[in-house]
Amino acid sequence: MSNISIAIDGPAGAGKSTIAKIIAKVKKLTYIDTGAMYRAVTLKCIQEQVDLQDHRQVEAVLMDTKIELIGDSIFLNGTNVSEEIRRSEVNKWVSEVAKLSAVRKKMVEMQRAIADSQSVVMDGRDIGTFVLPHAAYKFFLTASIEERAKRRFEEQQQKGFSTSLAEVKSEIENRDRIDTERDLAPLTQARDAILIDTTGLSIEEVVDKILSYIQ
Ligand code: C5P
Repeated sequence: MSNISIAIDGPAGAGKSTIAKIIAKVKKLTYIDTGAMYRAVTLKCIQEQVDLQDHRQVEAVLMDTKIELIGDSIFLNGTNVSEEIRRSEVNKWVSEVAKLSAVRKKMVEMQRAIADSQSVVMDGRDIGTFVLPHAAYKFFLTASIEERAKRRFEEQQQKGFSTSLAEVKSEIENRDRIDTERDLAPLTQARDAILIDTTGLSIEEVVDKILSYIQ
């Protein structure tokens, strides 16, 4: 049997990873969090104290960056950085790093290789439009900015991060703007993706909606 791919894209805080993880579990597929990969590169750049707007410095760091996805964890040059990649400094810079062509090239190659070798649920910004244009199923999840900010704020509070709702909202808006306006594979709904507005819906309702499309 050949591998199948399910692409789940959308803006920050739309619930993609929560939903994608559940779909992967129910359908016995591998969940791939592509945002975590861009976050890991960003973390490495922060650790190396490079000027994040200097392409050449970031590219040099990239050559020395090894990312592995093992289970629900992400490893950066052998270290589990699953928690660290959620830090506010990473939130602040990740979209700038993710704009760079060398970064995208390396991440997309890895993502395609993973999807070639196994059936996946992959979430991100450009999965349906660019990484896996032939994915069997494509979904674009969105929600109002208020709801997305509230969800992220609650998540961060649970993790013990001290930040305000207003800060979270402006960080999300900033990332969405950079992700939407960038030249390479910007955040946009694929023409053949199913749009789901998750505002006011429970996790179960969104999962049921998605499962209703998947045979
Ligand atoms: O999904 P998450 O919010 O963790 O993604 C962090 C950032 O990584 C996004 O804001 C975006 O800049 C970048 N990203 C991307 N392409 C993807 C996934 C994430 O550019 N496929």
